[in-house]
Amino acid sequence: MIKLLVNGLVLVMNTLYKTRPYPRFYVLETVARVPYFAYLSVLHLYESVGLWRKADWLKIHFAESWNELHHLLIMEELGGKDRWLDRVLARTTAVIYYWIIVAIYLLSPRAAYHFMELVEEHAYHTYNEFLKAHAAELKAQPAPAVAISYYRDGDLYMFDEFQTGRAPESRRPKIDNLYDVFVAIRDDEREHVKTMVACQVPATANQLHSPHAPTLPDNLQPGHAGSDA
Ligand SMILES: [Fe+2]
Ligand SMILES: [Fe+2]
Repeated sequence: MIKLLVNGLVLVMNTLYKTRPYPRFYVLETVARVPYFAYLSVLHLYESVGLWRKADWLKIHFAESWNELHHLLIMEELGGKDRWLDRVLARTTAVIYYWIIVAIYLLSPRAAYHFMELVEEHAYHTYNEFLKAHAAELKAQPAPAVAISYYRDGDLYMFDEFQTGRAPESRRPKIDNLYDVFVAIRDDEREHVKTMVACQVPATANQLHSPHAPTLPDNLQPGHAGSDA
């Protein structure tokens, strides 16, 4: 069921957007945020009725959605949302996926995180292939302003917050051109995969914390470079 959902989305994207990468990424990034919205909604519900308190997880998932928002803003700046049909497709898919993920999360948070692990893994490979195929032309183009602000010159607290496998400030992408931007986006997707894997660890053994939490596990202590595994 989970694999079917992901493969269905991938098939539609591959068929409709073979020759238009930015609209393709625009749709991908619009849909990519939705599971995080779904997790946040259900966690808020559980917290409201007193079932769970997972304040760190709310913070992390919001930071993940904030990261995907910046991927989306970058695609918009590159012209990805210029056609109304692409916007309609992206938003319709997003609404449908939102409710599907809410239902899955209510039944099994682990399955919902596994779904997102697969989506993020697909995103990583999609950007990796794109980088390999278009390296020269991407290196010749400037980085969008929103990317420079998010990755380099702005307040990077939220950028550090979504990377639960790293110490804050251990990753600072070089952003000199559009190629660097896509490298940063691709590497973000890998960080999302790691967090989604960590979220599937059974509750009794789960050590997932905000990277800015006052009590950090050893691998996230300041000075530790973080893991690339
Ligand atoms: Fe993304
Ligand atoms: Fe993603």
